[in-house]
Amino acid sequence: MRPGGWFGFGLLLAGAIGSGEGDAVGADDAVRAKADRRDAHSFGNPDEVRVHHVILNLHVDFERKVLHGNATLLIGRGPGVSADVPLVLDSKGLVIEGISAGSGPEGVLAEVPHEIGKGDPIRGAPISIKLPAEADTVRVRYRTSPGAGALQWLGPARTAGKRLPFLFTQSEPIQARTWLPLQDSPGVRITYEATLHVPEGLIAVMAADPQERRPGLFRFTMERPIPSYLIALAVGDLAFRPLGARTGVWAEPSVVEKAAFEFADTEKMIEATEARFGPYRWGRYDILVLPPSFPFGGMENPKLTFATPTILAGDRSLVALVAHELAHSWSGNLVTNATWRDFWLNEGFTVYLERRIVEAVYGPERAEIEAVLGLQELKDEFTRLPPGDQVLHIDLAGRDPDDGMTQVAYEKGALFLAELERAFGRKRFDAFLRDYFDRHAFQSITTGDFLGDLKARLFPLDAQAAGQIDLLAWVEAPGLAAPYTTPTSGRLDAVDRSVADWTSGKAPASLDTKNWSTQEWLHFLRALPPTIPPDRMAGLDAAFGLTGRGNAEIAAQWLQVAVRNGYRPADARLEEFLTTIGRRKFLMPLYRELIRTPEGKARALAIYTRARPFYHPIAVESVDKLLNPR
Ligand code: BES
Ligand code: ZN
Repeated sequence: MRPGGWFGFGLLLAGAIGSGEGDAVGADDAVRAKADRRDAHSFGNPDEVRVHHVILNLHVDFERKVLHGNATLLIGRGPGVSADVPLVLDSKGLVIEGISAGSGPEGVLAEVPHEIGKGDPIRGAPISIKLPAEADTVRVRYRTSPGAGALQWLGPARTAGKRLPFLFTQSEPIQARTWLPLQDSPGVRITYEATLHVPEGLIAVMAADPQERRPGLFRFTMERPIPSYLIALAVGDLAFRPLGARTGVWAEPSVVEKAAFEFADTEKMIEATEARFGPYRWGRYDILVLPPSFPFGGMENPKLTFATPTILAGDRSLVALVAHELAHSWSGNLVTNATWRDFWLNEGFTVYLERRIVEAVYGPERAEIEAVLGLQELKDEFTRLPPGDQVLHIDLAGRDPDDGMTQVAYEKGALFLAELERAFGRKRFDAFLRDYFDRHAFQSITTGDFLGDLKARLFPLDAQAAGQIDLLAWVEAPGLAAPYTTPTSGRLDAVDRSVADWTSGKAPASLDTKNWSTQEWLHFLRALPPTIPPDRMAGLDAAFGLTGRGNAEIAAQWLQVAVRNGYRPADARLEEFLTTIGRRKFLMPLYRELIRTPEGKARALAIYTRARPFYHPIAVESVDKLLNPR
């Protein structure tokens, strides 16, 4: 932990907390605010020379598993920045073939010298480019490496159709630099256009507006300024089904009908969000369902959420994930975390909004259930995290930003906002949030900026409510140091009673599980005692068909129970699960459970050896770390 604990650090932030509108903002605050905005995970120098538009021209080569072509960057120089200051870009594993520069994308570009710096294994390497004084255009000719962390190249066997290959990108948090050279920081917003050359017969989609489509060639533009982690591409055998006037779904042909059924409420979700938090500013909202190796549940790529097929439960029970990714169209994509230490501004806000959407579309019971489960997941996460990592405004300098991507950002962040809502009342808090999205639209902001907003615009409305909120404890302290209201759910209380009945010997079939939702099943499985005798495991399985469940959330939770209790009849299902689903959230708890015994560790390694080639580089990195600690 940091010397002096969080207090020393909290003092640093106290300036930001104190500097509301009306206070004189001193020079110290300005220095602090600037330091806060510095991104420890980018080599870029946007304060001096800044990229503001990118023109991509890329060939997608499935044989070599590389993208190659060029990226033309339009740049601006900060006021008074001298001509000999180079442009500095991020890159990781890119093979740079040459760089030219000049005036205007159509103008004559001449070769310019560049230097690739030393870099490090987390951030990659800086590219410094010396430019002529008048240059505003830089073209980098390059190719990606087959190990690019953002790219997953799938052979036909790993697709639903088994006929054609598939490629998708995952740029958040700092993987964009593994497939294009740019200033890869969420504090730098760009517009872009892209031309993609793909093998005939494949469809390319981007998180952008389609402009042109011919066999083998696709063109896109993104006219709203976005951070680099939202640049996204997928290529495969894709079909489209409309859902509503501005919504639709892309997936492999054999999956698209099921997906269209699952996501039927998407338009309603958009309307519910707009009514509370202001207009949807991105035009269309489509969802792309990826093959099962997609390492996340969802990714909020603008206009086109990327989603795991494991949410296609057949009963719409897992669509809170759509609410979540949609909510990022406000919190994250419109108002963006300026650095990865502000990640909770993206995810905490989004979980809060997600539950508001679920409440509006499916009713308060379902939202309460999600909140209770979320708090449980947070407390569970705390048991694995050192105090320094239990802090919303986490210090990630010198570390992998992935270390900050825990339930703390999501659930502690959401709990903080729920507490603000409780203290100030929904009416006032909604008005505050709506205004926040309007004022910061298309901006990247820091934790300090948000706290400044609270002090300036919400706290003055009700001094008594303000007195109940301990900002320093929320933002800088580990654990749950500030007072909060524990979410409750009558339905989950009833599930707890069923667990108690079962524990005290009642037969599974006598429990009232008839109308249980996916979430109630999850709660039931999580609340079971830590050790269960074999006959009782078999009894549960016989009564509820748990090993045979297709719902991936329920299956993953049951398999955890099965591994913990050495329940062999689930072995085959476990192996099938781990070798066909690559979503990291499911993999990690299962492998963690397995390696608790020497025998389980051997099994984990055997399964992983087979599964690893199928997992995404992001999942591979996490599982590698877990299974062979170095
Ligand atoms: N933006 C995240 C996914 C992400 C986080 C990608 C960090 C890379 C680094 C996305 O919005 C998300 O939070 N997805 C969750 C699902 C959600 C319902 C909590 C996931 O993938 O599990
Ligand atoms: Zn999210």
